[in-house]
Amino acid sequence: MKIAFVGKGGSGKTTLSALFIRHLAAAGRPVIAVDADINQHLGPALGLSDDQAARLPSLGAQLPAIKNYLRGSNPRIASADEMIKTTPPGQGSRLLRIVEENPVYASCARPVALDEGSVRLLVTGAFTEEDLGVACYHSKVGAVELLLNHLLDGQGEYLVTDMTAGSDSFASGLFTRFDLTFLVAEPTRKGVSVYRQYKEYARDFGVALRVVGNKVQGPEDLEFLRREVGEDLLAAFSHSEWVRRLEQGAEPPLSSLDTENRAVLELLRTEVDAAFHRRDAQRYTAQAVHFHLRNAESWGNAKAGVDLATQVDPTFVLGSAALPRPGTEQSALTRTSIEQDAADPAGAPV
Ligand SMILES: Nc1ncnc2c1ncn2[C@@H]1O[C@H](COP(=O)(O)OP(=O)(O)OP(=O)(O)O)[C@@H](O)[C@H]1O
Ligand SMILES: [Mg+2]
Repeated sequence: MKIAFVGKGGSGKTTLSALFIRHLAAAGRPVIAVDADINQHLGPALGLSDDQAARLPSLGAQLPAIKNYLRGSNPRIASADEMIKTTPPGQGSRLLRIVEENPVYASCARPVALDEGSVRLLVTGAFTEEDLGVACYHSKVGAVELLLNHLLDGQGEYLVTDMTAGSDSFASGLFTRFDLTFLVAEPTRKGVSVYRQYKEYARDFGVALRVVGNKVQGPEDLEFLRREVGEDLLAAFSHSEWVRRLEQGAEPPLSSLDTENRAVLELLRTEVDAAFHRRDAQRYTAQAVHFHLRNAESWGNAKAGVDLATQVDPTFVLGSAALPRPGTEQSALTRTSIEQDAADPAGAPV
C-alpha cells in the first residue's frame, strides 16, 4: 500500500508520517519509509542522529543505476539514457516488491531500528548547493515516481512517503501514485486552504484523500475542522506533550504515546487497509501512461532525442504481471548489481 503525507509547511507531515511508520512497524508490518521532501527530516524523526541522516545514500544520486536496473530487458527502452522519471514498466522491466532483497534497496535503502521492529528508509537527497539554478525539486523526486511505478506491493505491506509542503507535489504525476493520501491540516485557515487546493487537483485524477487534523487543542479546533473539511476529515491528532518531548531530543517509546493519539494512528492504518479493495490496476497504469506522454511531449522527447511514446507497452498492466518468486530470479538480480551499473560510464546523468 502506497501512502503519502502532504500538507502545509510545518503542519506535521514528518511527525505524523514517522509516527505512522513506527505504529506499522510495531504491529510487525513490513514498511518502506521514503523521505521525498526538499528538507529531509524523516530520518531524524525516525531516531537517526543528524550525522547518520547525512550519511544516507540518496536516490537522486543513484538515478542512472536505478533506471538501468528497472528497465531490465524491456525491449522498448534502449538504454537508461532514454528512461525518464515517468517511463512506465513493460514486458521485461524489473519490478520491485516491498519485502525482498534487490540491488536498489542494497544501494539506496538503509535499515532503521525502531523501538519495536525496523523499517527500510529511502531518501531523495537534500537540495544541495550544486543543484541551485540547474536542478529542481522534481528531478529529486523523479526517482520516487519511478520506484512507485515499478512497485508491486500487496495487502498488509506499506510504503509511506513524507512529501514536500504545499502544492509543489502537483508539479509531477507523483501525487496520483498513492493508494491513499493523508493531508495533514492544522485547525487554521491556512491549514485548510492547502486542503482545498489539493482536493481540486486530486478530484480530476480520482486521488483518494483523507484529512488528518493535527495540533488540535480542544472541541473548538475540532469543530472548525469538521466545518471546513466535512466528511473528508478522518481523524484529529491532538497537540501533544509527547511530541514536544520527542522534539526536545528525548526518545519516548511509542507505547507511552497517549491512547487517543495512538488510536488515531490505528485509524489511519484501518483506512489504508480498506483502500486495498479500491485499487484499480488498470486506472493506475493508465495514469502512469498519461503522465509519461505529457512529460515526453513537453521535455522528454527533446532531451532523449527519441519519441518516448514508443516506450508505452499497451499490453502491460502493473499488478497483473506474474513476478518470479523470490529465489528464482535472485541470481539474475545479483549478477546485475546496481553498484556495477553505477560505475558504468554509459549511465545517464540525472
Ligand atoms: N501533534 C503535535 N503536537 C505538538 N507538536 C507538534 C505536533 N505535530 C507536529 N508538531 C511540531 O510542529 C513542528 C512541525 O512539525 P513537522 O516538522 O512534522 O511538520 P512538517 O509538515 O513536516 O514541516 P515541513 O513542511 O517543514 O516539512 C515540529 O516542531 C513538531 O514537533
Ligand atoms: Mg517535514
